[in-house]
Amino acid sequence: MQSNAAIKAEFEHRFGAGGRVRLIRAPGRVNLIGEHTDYNDGLVCPMAIEPQVLIACRARDDGLVRLASTAFTGQIAQFSVEQKITRGEPAWTNYFRGVAAELEAAGIPLTGMDALVDNTLPVGGGLSSSAAIEVGTALAFLTLAGLEMDRDRLALICQKAEHEYANVPVGIMDQMIVATAKPGHATQYDCRSGARQFVQINPGDLRVVIVNTMVRHELSGGEYAQRRQQCEAGVAYFQKAYPAQSIKALRDVTLKQVQESEGKLDPLILKRCRHVVTENIRTAEAAGALAQDKYERAGQLMIQSHASLRDDYEVSCAELDFLAGEAMKVKGVYGARMTGGGFGGCIVALVQPRAVEPLTDHLERTYKTKFNIKPTAFATTATAGASVVE
Ligand code: GLA
Repeated sequence: MQSNAAIKAEFEHRFGAGGRVRLIRAPGRVNLIGEHTDYNDGLVCPMAIEPQVLIACRARDDGLVRLASTAFTGQIAQFSVEQKITRGEPAWTNYFRGVAAELEAAGIPLTGMDALVDNTLPVGGGLSSSAAIEVGTALAFLTLAGLEMDRDRLALICQKAEHEYANVPVGIMDQMIVATAKPGHATQYDCRSGARQFVQINPGDLRVVIVNTMVRHELSGGEYAQRRQQCEAGVAYFQKAYPAQSIKALRDVTLKQVQESEGKLDPLILKRCRHVVTENIRTAEAAGALAQDKYERAGQLMIQSHASLRDDYEVSCAELDFLAGEAMKVKGVYGARMTGGGFGGCIVALVQPRAVEPLTDHLERTYKTKFNIKPTAFATTATAGASVVE
């Protein structure tokens, strides 16, 4: 699917012709560096990518939201914005229910709609298909109601929907970048202050390659929630150890303090804290290096980030480690690391333009030999945040 005309034709096929059909797009994201830092008030450096969610939609005047997806033929699910919104079946509709409920809770008047969703992002592939659906849905509701909203506020509403309806206590990175990305740039984002620094990614000099392991070892978000709790346990320790300093999050803890905690802090919690504290340092440096075209340095920091996620934060897996390791054997690859929450999903590599093909060929071949799975590999440019196409 995915061409605008094809989506609109399919929409009319499912819901009938007539009226004004709007088209909303919301991209996925890849995080270049700054992993598991967002919920610690830290720094992230993601960008929006070409695979995306497209939503064709048309207002209804009876408050019903009727939903179809190009991934499933024939099925139309529905709920009403005029009744109390609850979770329901099929599960993918909960993103729509969640966003509708949170928009209403924020005082936004909603109209019903018919909507057809088309998605070129791998579901559960670690490229934020859920954030893309949430932000796209919010934009669809707002557009049909003739309303606009500040994008940072929109991202927060979508994050809340994910907390309440998908039950994963995610940070703000994914919704923020899907809602606000600047084309041609990655965004270094300070999850505490909201400050942004745009980092140009010029495809003439630097290509971003994504390779999907096609595996997902953990589904419910249980490990993710556990990591958050471990970070909170770390914060509680440092608050006690340094009462004179106002420590609110791991963002406020220094590397020296992490080193001083050895022998006093639970070794597992210490490792988790060390990852977050060093990852913030790496992210600030990597964004600066990218801005100055120091790709080798940015690549080294990505390799260190992967090692820290593997050894200290323990959110990697054999498939991710393999791809990240093999990528570095290819000439012209500056750096590679797992991206997103972990336990499967994708790696991201920064490479010279001429290294794209050798890299994807090498990884497809070696990964297939090792795991008997064909990974998907592609290069992407940095795209714009979600927008109303028509
Ligand atoms: C998931 C979450 C984000 C972030 C990453 C890890 O993608 O949705 O908020 O915590 O994991 O960096």
